[in-house]
Amino acid sequence: MSVKRAANFSAGPGVLPVEVLEKAREEMLSQAGSGMSVMEMSHRSKPYDAIQAAAEADARAFLGIPDSHAVLFLQGGASLQFTMIPKNLGGGADFVTTGSWGQKAIEAARLEGAAQEIWTGKADKFRSAPDLTALDRTEGAAYTHITLNETIQGVDYMTDPPADGTDWVCDMSSTIGSRKMDFSRYALVYAGAQKNIGPAGLTLVVIRKDLLERVPEGVPPMLDFRIQAENDSRYNTPPCWSIYMAGLVFRHWLDRGGIEAVEAANEAKAAVLYGAIDGSARFYRGHAVEANRSRMNVPFVLGDDSLTDPFLKEAKEHGFLELKGHRSVGGCRASIYNAQPAENVKALADFMADFAQRKG
Ligand SMILES: Cc1ncc(COP(=O)(O)O)c(C=O)c1O
Repeated sequence: MSVKRAANFSAGPGVLPVEVLEKAREEMLSQAGSGMSVMEMSHRSKPYDAIQAAAEADARAFLGIPDSHAVLFLQGGASLQFTMIPKNLGGGADFVTTGSWGQKAIEAARLEGAAQEIWTGKADKFRSAPDLTALDRTEGAAYTHITLNETIQGVDYMTDPPADGTDWVCDMSSTIGSRKMDFSRYALVYAGAQKNIGPAGLTLVVIRKDLLERVPEGVPPMLDFRIQAENDSRYNTPPCWSIYMAGLVFRHWLDRGGIEAVEAANEAKAAVLYGAIDGSARFYRGHAVEANRSRMNVPFVLGDDSLTDPFLKEAKEHGFLELKGHRSVGGCRASIYNAQPAENVKALADFMADFAQRKG
């Protein structure tokens, strides 16, 4: 490949595997000999049926989704799920807030009925996640919502919730597919695709099938999980291109050792970056407590904040892009999703060490 690829540390849309982009390019003008691209194909045609079926089968194989759960390919982003879930599963849910996205989730749920915040890390600027076995629950709560990885604060539970009979509903947008997860523990998982799965425009929803029976009458059809499941996510035109791309991404990782290999690579990349932070004698400081450090999003600040802008400027000159922290928290953030090449992470860590040595 002759094109120079950027060292892109964006939190989302994030970097995709180059081999997937190349395959999409190859198939762009004529998908499987059809003489048309996936973007031009009827979503009710045989070739498209095969694409969506393969994307679902490979999602199940890569992520480890059991038959007890339905896979839905929806639109509206993770943000629409903040509204769609209470509409389908009922109000009166418990929420655990470990960062900015969890806050948005409960705010939207409150518009649909009661929603109780049973834990929040706000007082500590969202640096940690609680022990989910030791929470005070609301009697009769419809479900308990968690955000497995908070993309802005870089706070990840690093474990699945306990199998204690709770209907755990989980925003997995920025950590899905980054390590082995036990999907049987979750009543519902949702994720905007544009980080570890594929292009924006697709939201993956994994829902335990018995919950489809709980959907009340009167939910608008497009927002009704049961209708979406009965119509194979094709009640209307689905995001065909994004589903095709997601299928290529799942297949890509399956062909390269599956989730175990991805998890090992992510652990190694995160160790390099946190090593650069921890080894800097507090020139750089991470945000989350060690037990909850995200392997996907690594927010950090410079001990001397007047060096933040020069750091970002120099980093950009060296080709390290999208390192500015989220506008709500400032500082810096490096997102190192599955497709982030290890050499980019190593090069960034080396640059950070060099900058610290020169300016510290
Ligand atoms: C954890 C989390 N939840 C929700 C969202 C919102 O996703 P979307 O833009 O798909 O609505 C994001 C986006 O970055 C996110 O990181």
